[in-house]
Amino acid sequence: MMNILVIGSGGREHALAWQCAKDDKVNNVYVAPGNAGTALEPKCQNVVLVSTDENASEHSAIIDFCQNNAIDMVIVGPEAPLVTGIVDACRDAGIKAWGPTAYCAQLEGSKTFAKEFMEQNNIPTAAYKGFTEAVAAKAYIDEQGAPIVIKADGLAAGKGVIVAETIEQAYEAIDDMLADNKFGDAGSRVVIEQFLQGEEASFICMIDGKNILPMATSQDHKRAFEGDTGPNTGGMGAYSPAPVVTQDVHEKVMAQVIQPVVDAMNNAGHPYTGFLYAGLMIDEAGDPYVIEFNCRFGDPETQPILMRLQSSMVDLVAQGLAGQLPSDAQWDSRPALGIVIASKGYPETSSKGDVIAGLPELDDNNDNAVKVFHAGTAFSDSDAIDREKEVVTNGGRVLCVTALADSISDAQQAALAVTGAISFDGAQYRRDIGHHAIARENS
Ligand code: AMP
Ligand code: GLY
Repeated sequence: MMNILVIGSGGREHALAWQCAKDDKVNNVYVAPGNAGTALEPKCQNVVLVSTDENASEHSAIIDFCQNNAIDMVIVGPEAPLVTGIVDACRDAGIKAWGPTAYCAQLEGSKTFAKEFMEQNNIPTAAYKGFTEAVAAKAYIDEQGAPIVIKADGLAAGKGVIVAETIEQAYEAIDDMLADNKFGDAGSRVVIEQFLQGEEASFICMIDGKNILPMATSQDHKRAFEGDTGPNTGGMGAYSPAPVVTQDVHEKVMAQVIQPVVDAMNNAGHPYTGFLYAGLMIDEAGDPYVIEFNCRFGDPETQPILMRLQSSMVDLVAQGLAGQLPSDAQWDSRPALGIVIASKGYPETSSKGDVIAGLPELDDNNDNAVKVFHAGTAFSDSDAIDREKEVVTNGGRVLCVTALADSISDAQQAALAVTGAISFDGAQYRRDIGHHAIARENS
């Protein structure tokens, strides 16, 4: 029997933990720190890992926990611990951790690293230039014209990107990032990019240093409001598969994007291991351009993708850790679609402590057609007997209602029906998740 530790607290981690718990070989899935959903999931329990030694690195609490609880594998959800080297630290301690090393995680941790890496390895991406000075940045914007894209260099939880329609908006973004420091240290350097046109898709793989296992394709909706308007968020919903990724596009992405990453990281002496997420813009001709790399699974893409996964996640990670990833996995042929319910004020702010009503009973999910993954949720009273009635909001993205159905529009309807029954003060969600794919289905 196996014990697994999942690091993180979002919808992605709930979906990873749920998939791991389904495997009969698994005894316990610990989630650090987890959310109300992972606490309620059978075989899963949340753990709070804090180091007792003030002088120890922040990774030491994780390592201690693994050693004291016979953890067979660690699956790291979010980027932050990957960028600071949790996988390196676990390996040094003899613990099996699935994810990229700190070196490889720079693909997400630094936009400048990623852009230079793509340039050196002929990976198609938008033309760009990096700046630390507002005056020079604005001069470049004048030269290029709008629309143009301004990005904070470091990690900004998907929110440090401004797609400026006008020169004025671009100036404002520069002032925010370079002069006003709205994004903190992440914005002390900016990357200014050519605006790419086309349809977006998320292409996520598992990589074991040499073998590549593509996950089912997906697409997320980054803008806060319907019609893909409003500010960028971490993602307001996603679906899988993404019809824009045809067989031809798939082959191009593997040959022009993913394989070059694997080869270049090997040549640099830093084999890429873990999930790799390429955020792509697919143009009219079906040519892919990389918008960004993430060194982890996507959120909310994980939720619909893992709804469709029929292979054991635990087996795949074990094979990945052993350098023996297969080239494909088993997927439900039906599409899946997830709708994020966010809290009041998201993405600028978020609200905590609002009581969530209308969550389906766990048993309601037994037909496996709809699953409510939790993200920013907690219990108002951790001692309450009927804990399901005490779930409250605890962050920006609160839930992701995910449905499997025969078509993307049926999955959207099934997810909307459950979403509409859930309520809390200030709840907001988009009713049009999947609209690109639904338009294709209807035409
Ligand atoms: P990123 O955090 O780099 O993925 O950017 C967030 C979102 O901004 C992307 O998902 C796109 O919708 C948009 N975006 C970023 N870069 C570009 C670009 N060069 N051209 C057009 N849209 C972009
Ligand atoms: N859904 C986009 C991301 O995970 O960054």
